[in-house]
Amino acid sequence: MAREPVDRDLLDEQLAYYRARAPEYDEWFLRTGRYDRGVQATRDWFAEVAEVERALDRFAPRGQVLELAAGTGWWTARLARYAGALTAVDASPETIERNRVRMKAMNLALPTYVQADLFAWQPVVAYDAVFFGFWLSHVPEEHFAAFWQLVRNALAPGGRVFFVDSRRDPQSTAHDHVLDDGDVQWRRLNDGRRFRVVKRFYDPLELEETLRRLGWQAVVRTTARYFLIGEAS
Ligand SMILES: C[S@@+](CC[C@H](N)C(=O)[O-])C[C@H]1O[C@@H](n2cnc3c(N)ncnc32)[C@H](O)[C@@H]1O
Repeated sequence: MAREPVDRDLLDEQLAYYRARAPEYDEWFLRTGRYDRGVQATRDWFAEVAEVERALDRFAPRGQVLELAAGTGWWTARLARYAGALTAVDASPETIERNRVRMKAMNLALPTYVQADLFAWQPVVAYDAVFFGFWLSHVPEEHFAAFWQLVRNALAPGGRVFFVDSRRDPQSTAHDHVLDDGDVQWRRLNDGRRFRVVKRFYDPLELEETLRRLGWQAVVRTTARYFLIGEAS
């Protein structure tokens, strides 16, 4: 896979993108606007989302749960069904605010929100489960081991990890985004502003092996087209 070295400017640009994108982030998940790829693609997408949800239900993230890069709360709301106590970390105040509004509208207990940069933050509490959705793909290779060390530091003995992420599929992203081969992609907002983000796609078996070398037991699988689902301990 072609790689460019990642610098702090790129991580800042990635965060700036998500801050600016907060009002339109859900268009991606809901397959509307520039993410609408037609009726069948939308149907397939939501069938696969339901598959991920069932996997998360089977995983049942009970006890003290930590969500990393929680975003606007699609998964936060799901985690709240199981978690005894939920902590949601994100660096963007704009997405945290949308997360809060969603949780309130759904009449769900609010998580403890932590606004923090995951490339610097360290947990101070031990959690029974750690969840991250569509975050691992935004972690540069240089930060991969440190990120998983953060996850390890966050877990109580016997703690478990669940993650979901994107597979490389051109229809997953907006129709005016080009999926390059490298780890850095250009993303556009509805107003035309452009930002660079890190986006790394994983082969499930290679990811399992990489995690095994870091001391994890991981099972990683894919849905038919769009998603990667991982569990680790
Ligand atoms: C692809 S979104 C995923 C959001 C959510 N997990 C979901 O599945 O809908 C990535 C999230 O990472 C957050 N983020 C970006 N850079 C970050 C950083 N350095 N530290 C913490 N969060 C960051 C963004 O604000 C955004 O909410």
